[in-house]
Amino acid sequence: MNVTLARLTKEFHSARGRVAAVKDIGFEIGDGEFFVLLGPSGCGKSTTLNLIAGLEKATGGEIRFGETLVASAEKGVHFSPRERNVAMVFQSYALYPHLSAFENVAFPLRIAGQGEAAIRESVMKAAAMLGIEALLDARPAELSGGQRQRVAIARAVVRQPSIFLLDEPLSNLDALLRASTRAELKNLQRNLGITTVYVTHDQVEAMSLGDRIAVLRDGTVEQLGRPEDLYERPANAFVGRFIGSPPMNLLHVSPVEEAGVLRLQIGTSKLDLPAEKQALLRASGQKEWLLGLRPEFVRPAAEAPETAGRGAILPAKIVQVEPMGRESLVHAEVDGQEIGFLTGIGFGRDIEPGAVMDLLLDLARAHFFTTGGSRESIRHPGA
Ligand SMILES: Nc1ncnc2c1ncn2[C@@H]1O[C@H](COP(=O)(O)OP(=O)(O)O)[C@@H](O)[C@H]1O
Ligand SMILES: [Mg+2]
Repeated sequence: MNVTLARLTKEFHSARGRVAAVKDIGFEIGDGEFFVLLGPSGCGKSTTLNLIAGLEKATGGEIRFGETLVASAEKGVHFSPRERNVAMVFQSYALYPHLSAFENVAFPLRIAGQGEAAIRESVMKAAAMLGIEALLDARPAELSGGQRQRVAIARAVVRQPSIFLLDEPLSNLDALLRASTRAELKNLQRNLGITTVYVTHDQVEAMSLGDRIAVLRDGTVEQLGRPEDLYERPANAFVGRFIGSPPMNLLHVSPVEEAGVLRLQIGTSKLDLPAEKQALLRASGQKEWLLGLRPEFVRPAAEAPETAGRGAILPAKIVQVEPMGRESLVHAEVDGQEIGFLTGIGFGRDIEPGAVMDLLLDLARAHFFTTGGSRESIRHPGA
């Protein structure tokens, strides 16, 4: 079942006055797609999901499930969650404490009046998919967090919903369990083929689960695309920073043209630019840029002799070295601005705070964002 959101808006009236939680968003979620809503706390993810579920009423716009109009503020249409045949899983498991895992999973089928044999078959099938067959006699209190969330997911999928909606379902799990449950969830969704909308603030989760991701901010969609699109071609600095870890470096630079060569001024340094980037910046004529460069494209120049002559040299002062196990994250400073990079296997282990060193920047991989506008609504030239 595909899901279409058009001009969807939700305003709340609260003690704080009017809050526009979702502002005029529109996109289509494909049949069988694993679609992720990603963004910081308060950006409108849950509200969007609840609008799709039918738990909230839109104040503007409409939602279609396939050809069926399930919500329209203008036409006064509002289908209930049951009429929409959606299943939801939330951060808190909300299992019935007095029922066994089996009965928790069976619950929606009993409500629907199914027979005992059919119920047993469906529950066993869902339990097998989630690897909880051995737990079916246990009460929720006897289960770990991860096991409880599996029971909650089994309960959601057991009645074959048209749409599967999940709101930060893994947030309460510890890191290891989160990673394994994430992988299982992806598998489950592939096997079931149910259109799925998944809310998270965790970009790693979004990148590993999503066929496509909508990045939300302040109730609007900043960018929608496949994980690799968002990573390689962020539409603006917000998306550039939000996707990827450690985050993308952002440096204020100004282009300077000398004898037909365009370079980037940062502090007292001037960075050489690949020809195609020079052409890009020249064509736009903008005077100030935010240079976006992921930490993986920055290295100490001395450690990369094989790339001598390729890339731009930038002297920087090392401020802090954060060990992260396999590598360390090095924070350096240039012209009062921060630039981070990672040490690798066999290089950079000896870097100390206070040192000044030449960094080599691979500016063929740089992004350029404009800095105009009141909020830093920062776009690619031509985007
Ligand atoms: N029932 C409500 N009443 C008033 N404001 C709300 C209500 N629900 C959400 N909001 C506000 O709407 C905005 C988006 O909230 P939400 O969708 O929960 O964000 P997210 O899930 O991305 O953290 C926030 O500013 C939040 O405070
Ligand atoms: Mg939320």
